[in-house]
Amino acid sequence: MGLGCKNAAGGRISRALRLLVLIVLALVTIEYVYGWIFGATYIRTYLSARLYNITQFTFRDNETQIKNETATTRPLPGTLCDLTPSGLGPVRVNKTEVELASLENKFPEVGLGGRYTPPNCTPRHKVAIIVPYKDREQHLAIFLSHMHPFLMKQQIAYGIFIVEQAGSKSFNRAKLLNVGFVESQKWESGGYQCFIFHDIDLLPEDTRNMYSCPEQPRHMSAAIDKFKYKLPYQTIFGGVSALTEEQFKKVNGFSNRYWGWGGEDDDMYKRLNAMNYKISRYAMNIAKYVMLDHKKSAPNPKRQSILKQTDKVFKEDGLSTLEYELIKMVRFQLYTYLVADIDKES
Ligand SMILES: *[C@@H]1O[C@H](CO)[C@@H](O)[C@H](O)[C@H]1NC(C)=O
Ligand SMILES: *[C@@H]1O[C@H](CO)[C@@H](O)[C@H](O)[C@H]1NC(C)=O
Ligand SMILES: *[C@@H]1O[C@H](CO)[C@@H](O)[C@H](O)[C@H]1NC(C)=O
Ligand SMILES: *[C@@H]1O[C@H](CO)[C@@H](O)[C@H](O)[C@H]1NC(C)=O
Repeated sequence: MGLGCKNAAGGRISRALRLLVLIVLALVTIEYVYGWIFGATYIRTYLSARLYNITQFTFRDNETQIKNETATTRPLPGTLCDLTPSGLGPVRVNKTEVELASLENKFPEVGLGGRYTPPNCTPRHKVAIIVPYKDREQHLAIFLSHMHPFLMKQQIAYGIFIVEQAGSKSFNRAKLLNVGFVESQKWESGGYQCFIFHDIDLLPEDTRNMYSCPEQPRHMSAAIDKFKYKLPYQTIFGGVSALTEEQFKKVNGFSNRYWGWGGEDDDMYKRLNAMNYKISRYAMNIAKYVMLDHKKSAPNPKRQSILKQTDKVFKEDGLSTLEYELIKMVRFQLYTYLVADIDKES
């Protein structure tokens, strides 16, 4: 009788276990197909947003667009995209100002939030393009108008993130890039493996300049028209640069301490150097960029003295100490728009 009891209890437990397994499987399937659970704003925010005080979200809640988005961001399993897609080469840069609104219908292939996945092959790279932004409205449309067709030709999966600085302090490019790194990972199911940190006033002139991450960090904007297509100095890492998630985390991201123009890119160079990375570059005839006109910002007078401390302090200044408040997140048709108050010293 004792045995019978045990068997009955055992049966109940195993039935309960089977039910549990079924429920978990169902949840995993739902997550996989729809990205609902970890895609859900509140759970995600709760799970990954301790330091980051998120006060407001603005989603475009549009059934049609969401459905289309699912179609464009989930590649069908199949053949890998070509390592170097055919038809790559020099492209013209059109610097004519355009209306942002007039662009919205020009690129129907691009999914909500400026995200794209090649339709006919499985992309080898999933790339977040992080663009720090402040008072450059005239450049935004020109940038998007150039970059979307450029990137689509390369058959990569990508998302464009425009990170705007709120608050009252002077521009802090590096801290905005850190914010872009954290936020782009948070909002994309599966995350990104490759990050291109991109000034908005630089437009690439050759599609052989692949927006991907090689084994070593890549400095991409080596040849800029304003500098007569010459490398200004050997250790330069500013303008446009590519780092894998692993590389970025190993060097603790960018410094948060550079307010005003300059220094933060040299700081990143020192971090990479300290972690034994070697900078790679494309040939100068491929790494070509056009720079859009703008007034030069005031240099940060403290940049040299902060730079002297990099080797000693970089593990305590960067991603690990990043503090900001995300004020806004909107998925527009051609880009994901993030506004962050980064005034807090850290
Ligand atoms: C987040 O920021 C808002 C506005 O600055 C503030 O009122 C709120 O208390 C903050 N919440 C947390 C958890 O820090
Ligand atoms: C959703 O988006 C489609 C296409 O952009 C548009 O035609 C439609 O009016 C939108 N619906 C709502 C409820 O916003
Ligand atoms: C440049 O862009 C403008 C605005 O979209 C367009 O009118 C013009 O034809 C373009 N020029 C060239 C050479 O493609
Ligand atoms: C998805 O987008 C394409 C192109 O933008 C459009 O033709 C199609 O009607 C959309 N599908 C749905 C279900 O809205």
